[in-house]
Formats: sequence, structure tokens, C-alpha cells
Amino acid sequence: MEIAKRLQGVGEYYFSKKLREIDELNKQGKHIINLGIGSPDLPPHPEVIQTLQEEAQKPNVHGYQNYKGSPVLREAFAGWYRRWYGVELNPEAEVLPLIGSKEGIMHICMTYLNEGDAALVPNPGYPTYRSNVTIAGGVCIDYELKEANGYQPDLEAIETKDLSRVKLMFVNYPQMPTGQQPDMEVFRKLIAFAKKHGILLVHDNPYSFILNEHPASILSIDGAKEVTVELNSLSKSHNMAGWRVGVLCGAAVRINEVLRFKSNMDSGMFLPVQLAAATALSLGNDWHEEVNAVYSARRKKVYDLLDLLGCRYSKEQVGLFVWAAIPEGYKDGYELADAVLYNADVFITPGGIFGDAGDRYIRISLCGSVQRFDEAIARVNTQITKIRS
Ligand SMILES: Cc1ncc(COP(=O)(O)O)c(C=O)c1O
Repeated sequence: MEIAKRLQGVGEYYFSKKLREIDELNKQGKHIINLGIGSPDLPPHPEVIQTLQEEAQKPNVHGYQNYKGSPVLREAFAGWYRRWYGVELNPEAEVLPLIGSKEGIMHICMTYLNEGDAALVPNPGYPTYRSNVTIAGGVCIDYELKEANGYQPDLEAIETKDLSRVKLMFVNYPQMPTGQQPDMEVFRKLIAFAKKHGILLVHDNPYSFILNEHPASILSIDGAKEVTVELNSLSKSHNMAGWRVGVLCGAAVRINEVLRFKSNMDSGMFLPVQLAAATALSLGNDWHEEVNAVYSARRKKVYDLLDLLGCRYSKEQVGLFVWAAIPEGYKDGYELADAVLYNADVFITPGGIFGDAGDRYIRISLCGSVQRFDEAIARVNTQITKIRS
């Protein structure tokens, strides 16, 4: 059966393919240490699990749910935005719970893009922006994030491109994969740029609580809601990646437009998951401090590993990864990542999967215990001559 044209040019997700290869290597008796993927290995807060357990015992929670999410969860998201980001949201109209923020990216593309419409996507950036724009029939126009420019978009350079068909611009700070922190001045400029060109800014914000002292939302800027929507997620901030809970926040009119698509795609989330997510959103700073203390200890190990590999990196990065420039002598990050995988049985992510601007970089995830990092460092140390040759 011939697959639909919309999937042409969209390959299987890199991790989906690579994890299959790692499975094969493990079946052959290897014990690959996976430092590639950003799936938190720590559990959610015990109260979150308790809420799920208690709610799931009840007889009347198993039916289809409201397409706009439970009012309890919408209130909890609105309270969370007020408390941490200083943003007022109407829980009835400006908050749309999602089954993870990844699905929100697709909903937005399907809601706004006609065949041939364009979206500005960061390079390097989360690969899902590119694939979802393409699947929706749109065309991606890359904007490069350069280390020399602090990984911020160069709006003057973007304005030299043909923007006539651009309807969406994806932006993401703390930036994945570069770890660049948000800058309110840049957000202001982005909002002015979006207003000038009639573009909907989509700010993707899943990393604001990871090793970041100042969680920030683009929606805290005056007038942002006129041209901006924001995606957020509990996957990283609350160690709930497998639970699939995210949110779209923005003006009521945008939320209703996206709901038109989404309500035709799914039938809501299991109510106990939504109620447990509300518990997670009510956690205080202690929770984030506890989680960040763990990530901070791991990050020191990542620095040691990167030093061993001769990579260059900034210690100002935030988020769940460390992004690092590879040394001379390797063709690209793929070559270094493969040398580490096949010689030392350690998987790290080549930066090129985030766009060609990432070709000379690698990304290491903080989702592994200190013991695993120690083991990874020991393996790389033993094989360093082979890795370098
Ligand atoms: C930048 C970025 N946005 C969105 C997501 C998706 O997160 P979720 O688990 O909420 O779908 C990820 C996941 O890795 C990500 O890195």
C-alpha cells in the first residue's frame, strides 16, 4: 500500500530507529548506557501517585472526559501560571490540557497550515516542529540559532527571507538542544516581529523548571496573547513524561480554533491522570529544588565526560541536557556519537538530528544516575584511544 504524500520526506523519528538498534546491541549481550534521550528516570512526587491510585479506585471516573479537560486541571494550570510565571489565564477559556505538548504541536500545525503555507522553525531545534509542519502540508523555513549570537533568532536575517506565506513561528526557551536561557528582551522583539508580519508565535516551554532559577513565560509580556500561544508540559518538570500531560495556553479564540481540530482527534484524558496532574501542579519549590539537586550532581559528571571527549561547552546552560561542540578531527557529531557507541557502549545524541546547524555538536541527557555516568566515564576512558582514532 502506498503511503500518503504527506509522509514523504518525513522519516521515522531518529530515536525510534536508534533505540531499535540499541535493543539489538543489547540482545547481542551489550549493556548500552543510554545518555541520549530526555526521559526523566526519577519518579513523580509520591502525592501525585497517591492521587492517581485513590482516584482510579472510584467507580465513576472511567468514562469519556470533557474535550476541554477537567475544570480541576484547568484551574490548576491557571494557578500554576499565576504562581510561577506571573501570568493571568482564564481557566475556562485560555487553558487547554493536552496529551503531552508534542501532540499540541501537531494540533497547531493542522489547525493553521494550508498546503504550501510556511512555518519558521529553529535550527537546531526539536525535530517534531519540522516533521509536524511537513505532515500538515506546510513548508519549513529554518532560522539558524548560532552560538556566536547566543542561540537567539536573528530577526533581521529572517526578514531578508520571503515571509509572505509564513503563518507560524516555533520558538523554544529554555532552548532544546542548546540549553540557552530565555531572554525577555528577545521575547519582546519576537512579539513585535510576529505582530508586524501577522505570524502566530508558538512558544514551547517544557524545560523552564530544570536547572533554571527563573522560570519564564512569553505570555507574561504585555500584548503577548494577541500573537502568541504557549505550550507547556509536566513531562520534565514533574517527572511525568509517560503520563502524557501538557497544556496549551493563549487567547480564547486560539484555544477554540485548536480545539476544533483536537476534539476530532482524541476524547480527553483519563480523569485520575488529570487529577493527579493537578496535584503535581500544586507542588512547591521544595519539589523543584530536590529534583534540581539531583540533576546538578549529574551535570558535573557530564562535564567530566565531555572533558574526556575533548568537547567544548558552556556552563550557563539550563534544561535537561548539556550541548557541546565536538573537537576537530571528527567529521561531525554523528561520527563522534557512533565512535562512542560502538567502542564504549554509551549512547549520546549527535547534534545533527536537531538540524544541520547542530552538525558539529553532541547532546548529553541528564536522565541517568550518577553511577551510570561514572560507568560511562570509565568505559569511555578505557576506549578513548579507539574513540579518537
Ligand atoms: C522542546 C520540546 N518540546 C516538546 C517536547 C514534548 O514533550 P511532551 O512530553 O510534553 O510531549 C519535548 C520532548 O522532548 C521537547 O524537547
